[in-house]
Amino acid sequence: MVRPLRGDDREAVKKILEENDLFTPAEIACALEQVDIYINQPEQQDYRLMVVENEEGQVAGFISYGPTPLTEGTYDLYWIAVSPRDQRKGFGRTLIRWLEDKVRQAGGRIILIETSSQPKYEATRNFYKKMGYSEVARVVDFYRPGDDRLIYAKYFDREKKGQ
Ligand SMILES: CC(C)(COP(=O)(O)OP(=O)(O)OC[C@H]1O[C@@H](n2cnc3c(N)ncnc32)[C@H](O)[C@@H]1OP(=O)(O)O)[C@@H](O)C(=O)NCCC(=O)NCCS
Repeated sequence: MVRPLRGDDREAVKKILEENDLFTPAEIACALEQVDIYINQPEQQDYRLMVVENEEGQVAGFISYGPTPLTEGTYDLYWIAVSPRDQRKGFGRTLIRWLEDKVRQAGGRIILIETSSQPKYEATRNFYKKMGYSEVARVVDFYRPGDDRLIYAKYFDREKKGQ
């Protein structure tokens, strides 16, 4: 079940970020900052966070996204993560499909995802490609020398025209 994140999900989300052994402390802090904005500033529209529950009703994963400022119909997927114990069970797919439905319903055109070229992100890149996202841009050495910023995208207006 996909539902909006609640204040009492914060610890579960923090645990998911820490257990994945992929994110730096600065990245975890950045993701939790979005969680806190979403929980404490209900009027803001920039960051939207959803969680998916497993069969036991525990938080298996979360997604954060928002409309990209100064664009018409472009959305950023900021964070997606699934607890290691619940990976490869379809929860990541459920979250990303939920977001795509949401964006289509809102008349959105594009979902953008940024990730890193580091080898440890290979599974993540495979996941995005499997979900139908293509690499549309690469900023060489963006994060640090040897670590490129990759931008993946899915276009929904093209999808409608069958392209
Ligand atoms: C990327 C991530 C969100 C995927 O979530 P998930 O619930 O494990 O993914 P799903 O079970 O829905 O997988 C859907 C498909 O993606 C592909 N995929 C997912 N994980 C993969 C992996 N480790 N290696 C290769 N392909 C993978 C598979 O094709 C999979 O379908 P299949 O299991 O039927 O073969 C999860 O692995 C994760 O949290 N990773 C660490 C955090 C992260 O990288 N977040 C993104 C950066 S912000």
